[in-house]
Amino acid sequence: MSKLLNCLTNKDFSCVPVWFMRQAGRYLPEFRQIRLQNPDFLNLCFNSDLAEKITLQPIKRYDLDAAIIFSDILVIPYALQQSIIFKEKIGPKCYNFNLDKFLETKEKDFLLTLNPVYNAIKKTKESLTKNKSLIAFVGAPWTLLIYLYNLKEPNNLNSKIKIKNKTEIKLVLKKLDEFLKLHIIHQIEAGADIVQIFDSWAGLIEQEDLEDYCYNPNMSLVNFCKENKIPSICFPKGLKNNYKKFIEKVKPNAISIDQEIDPLWAKKNLNDICIQGGMDPKLLLKNEALVLDETDRYLEIFKNNPYIFNLGHGILPETNPEIIKKIVDRVKLKSK
Ligand code: CP3
Repeated sequence: MSKLLNCLTNKDFSCVPVWFMRQAGRYLPEFRQIRLQNPDFLNLCFNSDLAEKITLQPIKRYDLDAAIIFSDILVIPYALQQSIIFKEKIGPKCYNFNLDKFLETKEKDFLLTLNPVYNAIKKTKESLTKNKSLIAFVGAPWTLLIYLYNLKEPNNLNSKIKIKNKTEIKLVLKKLDEFLKLHIIHQIEAGADIVQIFDSWAGLIEQEDLEDYCYNPNMSLVNFCKENKIPSICFPKGLKNNYKKFIEKVKPNAISIDQEIDPLWAKKNLNDICIQGGMDPKLLLKNEALVLDETDRYLEIFKNNPYIFNLGHGILPETNPEIIKKIVDRVKLKSK
């Protein structure tokens, strides 16, 4: 059994598996080179050969315990017939959400669009050695809603969002729930071992709406994973103290903490669960000694806990690839 699966399913804390969110991305020159020749980001996600190649780029460089399939959470709105445009510096945008097309999408057509992702998973699985896990992922419904309806305030990324068109949103959430489950099961059937659910914008939900837009939608996906014996990791970024409530309700195999969470608070309050991540990705832009001290601090705090080493969010594009190697070596040295 791979280290990551052992940690997730047996809560074994004798070793600390390590991988990184955005380990395949712009901080790697070999990624930027492929990207330069492929200006259309979604096309790149749907090119199975290149998706496999990109997924394996960080695995070739570092002794990581898992690969995460190169894809994006926004392949789902795209497969539900929405137009998604990735613009440099602005980020992805969904133009003119079309509710009718969205709701009318048939399973067969959705899976046909996403078939290249499943093929990329199949190929990657064949290339990976048995001791490394392959992680599949989906965006949580709320985080997808943020993109579908362009809900982020460009000038105030931290202001909470109040949902107005509740009846419509209910229909959209139901469709997302159904089709995200389809995407999960097809990724697993293609060879993925684990699912991470990214709720990157959970921090923008009003306190009184957390049940409807965060806990329940995540719980539905996690329960589906449980029914199908799929280990799950949840990342409800920005929930602050509500991380505690989240794990009590949703009960995934692991919880990925962001950089706002004090690891000591997490150790005390997030019980009976495997913890992942936490270290601030911005710190990786600082000097090596600071980075390794902080790596040691997380390892020390979580030494008697099932813990997966990762960051509080994705690796930043400005990160020096050498520092990732130093961190991986440090984690391996300190945990056998
Ligand atoms: O290595 C990996 O982590 C696997 C691949 C992966 C990507 N996106 C590739 C990508 C994963 C797991 C994602 C998830 C994703 N995508 C999330 C959830 C995690 C998070 O970062 O909060 C979200 C919110 C998205 C949507 C998205 N895709 C945004 C906001 C952006 C632009 C901003 C950014 O970070 O670049 C993307 C583009 C994207 N997805 C890139 C990559 C490697 C950069 C593409 C490029 O411009 O070259």
